[in-house]
Amino acid sequence: MALNKAKVITVTSVKGGTGKTTTVLNLAGFLSAMKLRTIIVDLDLYSGSVAAMLNINDGSDIYTLCEDYMNNRFNQFSDYVAKYNDYIDVLAAPVDPRNGSKIKAKYISIILSRLVLQYDVILIDTIMKTIVNQMLKMRWE
Ligand SMILES: Nc1ncnc2c1ncn2[C@@H]1O[C@H](COP(=O)(O)OP(=O)(O)O)[C@@H](O)[C@H]1O
Ligand SMILES: [Mg+2]
Repeated sequence: MALNKAKVITVTSVKGGTGKTTTVLNLAGFLSAMKLRTIIVDLDLYSGSVAAMLNINDGSDIYTLCEDYMNNRFNQFSDYVAKYNDYIDVLAAPVDPRNGSKIKAKYISIILSRLVLQYDVILIDTIMKTIVNQMLKMRWE
């Protein structure tokens, strides 16, 4: 477990296909070479591709994690996180994109507040729309 709270790096843009995921994966490779425990959180909730690009599709995703958290079934992050190598873990976007809109902002916030205690770096891959939507939702929740 990391001694200090993780640094959080968010890669985003207003447009798709601008190289967000490529940037995140390259940063992860660099951080891994630096032996920093890194988790990629794929918050491109409707078209996340990190797990597919790393070929680590094991069916676990952030939607299942949020559902289990909400229903008191959550035990530990390792049940929901796919491992790429000794330093890089991935919390995948919803396997079924229809579940993207069912994820509540407050659970993303809870998840991140716990992940910062377990990693050196959190890399977030997300589209601006997700951030804006989640912020608007948070105002009303
Ligand atoms: N620096 C770059 N130069 C050229 N092509 C790039 C660069 N970064 C990404 N690409 C290509 O652009 C496409 C979209 O990249 P991707 O990282 O999936 O974008 P996003 O995650 O923003 O949708 C991919 O085919 C990727 O290989
Ligand atoms: Mg992408």
